[in-house]
Amino acid sequence: MIGKIKKAFEAHFGMDPILIKSPGRINLIGEHTDYNEGFVLPAAVDLGIYFACKQNDLNKFRFYSYDLEDVCVRSVNDISKSTKRWVNYLLGVIAQFEKSGKKVQGFDCVFGGDLPIGAGMSSSAAIETGLSFAINQMQGFKISTLDLVKFSQKAEHEYAGVQCGIMDQFAVMHGQNQQVIKLDCRSLDYQLYPFHMNNHELVLVNTGVKHSLASSEYNKRRQECETGVALLQKYYPEVRSLRDVSLNQIQKYVAEFDPVVYKRCSYVVEENMRLEKACNALEKDDLVTFGKEMFGSHIGLRDKYEVSCTELDQLVEIAKNVDGVLGARMMGGGFGGCTINLIEKNSVAEFERSVLENYRTPDGKLPEIIKVKIEKGTHPVDIIIDYK
Ligand code: GLA
Repeated sequence: MIGKIKKAFEAHFGMDPILIKSPGRINLIGEHTDYNEGFVLPAAVDLGIYFACKQNDLNKFRFYSYDLEDVCVRSVNDISKSTKRWVNYLLGVIAQFEKSGKKVQGFDCVFGGDLPIGAGMSSSAAIETGLSFAINQMQGFKISTLDLVKFSQKAEHEYAGVQCGIMDQFAVMHGQNQQVIKLDCRSLDYQLYPFHMNNHELVLVNTGVKHSLASSEYNKRRQECETGVALLQKYYPEVRSLRDVSLNQIQKYVAEFDPVVYKRCSYVVEENMRLEKACNALEKDDLVTFGKEMFGSHIGLRDKYEVSCTELDQLVEIAKNVDGVLGARMMGGGFGGCTINLIEKNSVAEFERSVLENYRTPDGKLPEIIKVKIEKGTHPVDIIIDYK
């Protein structure tokens, strides 16, 4: 893939671009907890978006989307929002550099990849993080990776209109080979847990339903959580977010809660607890317990947070009925995208068979089954193309 991106760059713009890989991410457990200052357990994966970039002296940003075969050219003085969605992820990042006082010089950029778009694997975060990394490198700004993560998250808020948490951009940037990241979304401290897949595999199944995070539901969940926090603060002024709250505390005031807000809040508190249990299990290499927490997470997302959909539920049910599937749940924002399944190696074939026999995407097709490997976050790549 990176070879194709480099060749496309040469065909459109010329020689010697820098090359960057920015991966997608999975999340094992801890969903919709990041913007509640809770914990998440993501990792970067082998599929990703690749960038070829080079500064030009035209005072222009020239972008080419390899996958969409679409072009956009902008003057460096015009970073206003575009009517094209893909362009906004890029301009959104440039805007953050400029806001921090760093003028971005004109450059050429080709990007594209093998990451399914809109499947809950954070293709947008991979684009934002990849471009911020490339600009930092081209201009020698020496901005920290954590600040680049924050730029990328802000790009999503301001140019894509999704008030996302920090999990995706953080995981995409800071992923490590064969390790999952337990991230404290308040302090942004993190701990790496080895996640060896000698006897197990992580398999995603794409429902084929495009999740539309921007479609208000995501932002609505955020507001519902904030409403819950505001209520709790009347009784517990020290509470800053749902991260600080125990189940007892919310149960005590259940009568004062709007029932929907109550469900949302109890989900978040329970999901942080599940994540804690899952991490303890991981320390003991107890993937059976880990998997149970994944199933529990799905039930919470389905019944209390209400961000699942029939197709995701169906795939989790199919998974549950296959021996050797230790855990399965919807992954990411919800309303479509993928399920993530933790499966014993010798049961993977049976799992695939069962999924292909029992599930069809809404347009009647076989679903995409994606076996992922946990790999390094955003990084430069070197390749030598054989032009013979
Ligand atoms: C999306 C957002 C993340 C996170 C997840 C749900 O992927 O971008 O910040 O909130 O949904 O866990």
